[in-house]
Amino acid sequence: MLEVEKIATYYGQSQALFDVSLKVGEAEVVTLLGRNGMGKSTTIRSIMGLVPVRLGRITFSGKEIQALPSYGIARKGIGLVPEGRQIFPNLTVRENLLVTAANHTQSTSPYSLDDIFTIFPRLADRLTHFGNQISGGEQQMLAIGRALMTNPRLLILDEATEGLAPLVRQEIWRGLNILKTKGLAILIVDKNIKALMDIAARHYIMEKGEIAWSGLTSELINSPEIQRHYLGI
Ligand SMILES: Nc1ncnc2c1ncn2[C@@H]1O[C@H](COP(=O)(O)OP(=O)(O)OP(=O)(O)O)[C@@H](O)[C@H]1O
Ligand SMILES: [Mg+2]
Repeated sequence: MLEVEKIATYYGQSQALFDVSLKVGEAEVVTLLGRNGMGKSTTIRSIMGLVPVRLGRITFSGKEIQALPSYGIARKGIGLVPEGRQIFPNLTVRENLLVTAANHTQSTSPYSLDDIFTIFPRLADRLTHFGNQISGGEQQMLAIGRALMTNPRLLILDEATEGLAPLVRQEIWRGLNILKTKGLAILIVDKNIKALMDIAARHYIMEKGEIAWSGLTSELINSPEIQRHYLGI
């Protein structure tokens, strides 16, 4: 479904990504791991057209997307939950969910507000609160809900549970598991390796702008030296 082939991305003169390749299949949950500053967000920004890709190719459902503007990529069916959430602070929860809602993928059963509340029940109690009046965990649920309201076929999360308390994290993982069960393809960045190994079958590890390792959950569990070397666990 998503295929990133040998991309190189620069910030000015400085090369941030080197020959990065990865794939996410239909209904597959895949993670992108690595310590701070290794290029995870840059990879996601490259996929979403938020930074220009200088070399290589990105295809989604067989069509090249690397030359499209971000809104064009979103319309193809990729939903982003960005690092830092970027909720609209002066819109209500309801408005945040509706402001970018669209059935980009011509889904026969597009997401309704009620569908979002089934996944994240807490949001239903916060409908009239403003984006800046809700907790960090609720903001993250809202960011996921907002992305779902564009009816993506692939959801990408940069730091799915960063900075959240353990109980709220569990709510986020539970919601993501519901989406997985529904057959949504998901690419996740997070630092909680255990939760990631529970939800995803396949992983990529980045080191200094390159994919240093990729493999299955079973392989990662049985490779404490890889976990230690690349993830500092
Ligand atoms: N806007 C920018 N301008 C210049 N350099 C940047 C910019 N954003 C990131 N970088 C550099 O690119 C490299 C990769 O950063 P990136 O944010 O992709 O890492 P990351 O794996 O997402 O890290 P983290 O886990 O801290 O979020 C780092 O060396 C970083 O300093
Ligand atoms: Mg990052």
